[in-house]
Amino acid sequence: MNLLGFDGATLQDILPFLDLADEFVDATGKLITPRKYRDALAHHSIGLLFFEPSTRTRASFELAVDRLGGYPLQLASESSSIKKGETELDTCQNLQAMGMSGFVIRHSDRDILPMLGKSLRVPVINAGNGAGEHPTQALLDAFTLRRALRRERDLEGVTVLIMGDIAHSRVARSDVAVLRALGASVRIAGPESLLPPDGLLDATSFTDRKAALEGVDAVIVLRIQRERMPADVIDEEAFIARWAIDEEVVRDELPENAFIMHPGPVMRGVELTSDVADSDRSLILQQATNGVAIRQAVLLKCLKKEI
Ligand code: NCD
Repeated sequence: MNLLGFDGATLQDILPFLDLADEFVDATGKLITPRKYRDALAHHSIGLLFFEPSTRTRASFELAVDRLGGYPLQLASESSSIKKGETELDTCQNLQAMGMSGFVIRHSDRDILPMLGKSLRVPVINAGNGAGEHPTQALLDAFTLRRALRRERDLEGVTVLIMGDIAHSRVARSDVAVLRALGASVRIAGPESLLPPDGLLDATSFTDRKAALEGVDAVIVLRIQRERMPADVIDEEAFIARWAIDEEVVRDELPENAFIMHPGPVMRGVELTSDVADSDRSLILQQATNGVAIRQAVLLKCLKKEI
């Protein structure tokens, strides 16, 4: 089974991933791998192809494959034959011929992933395709929220705000789809120039921070993704003044029990101040932990190795 995106997903599409990932995190939030899964991917090699920079996503997939007893074959575009002009499809087909059981792929071109998903015989997992989707990030965000809010099943009645650069964010697109499927009500907020055209996302749109934060259970903060926009579209000083979350915003505008999340990389001092990023309201490092568990669940489901 491929995992390319969650556009149009239902509750039933999402819950099995979250429920399986629960087996990989203990009650204190630490990673565990039950004995029965430790060899689930034995003799399986998974191609990890990152044609765009990555820290958390790449590392967590590598760790997830390792924790399930498989072999993560890393291929970076700078040191592969892509650099010599080989197509992504040829690269993947050659690796498939060497016996890969599946691929995890990140690419800046959003159309490459669906093409590879159609052309390859083995499962393809999207680790971020341009401004398209980032389905495993959305799963780990929903999983982190479900545990933090002590929900057993869905997120019915929960309000989540996604704030910052929404227009260029694959995380926002997948987060909206997954959180909506779980029954949450989803808001987006940011400068007008960083919001998507009306109606593109199934979320209520705000251009005022205070109004957007009112009554939320969590805010997912996103960085400005300059690599996907023309230079100087956005004035950083003006963005900070209007949108940064600092201690004062937490005290005066964020509801008392609301959590702060961020997929990383955090631009400290831009969208979040350091004290807020490191505060006890922040779930940022728990998101990183949970990313490993979610990717274990995704690999098992896509490769049909669930026990
Ligand atoms: C995100 C990504 O690459 O889309 N990061 C991640 O995967 N943790 C978000 C970003 O780059 O801002």
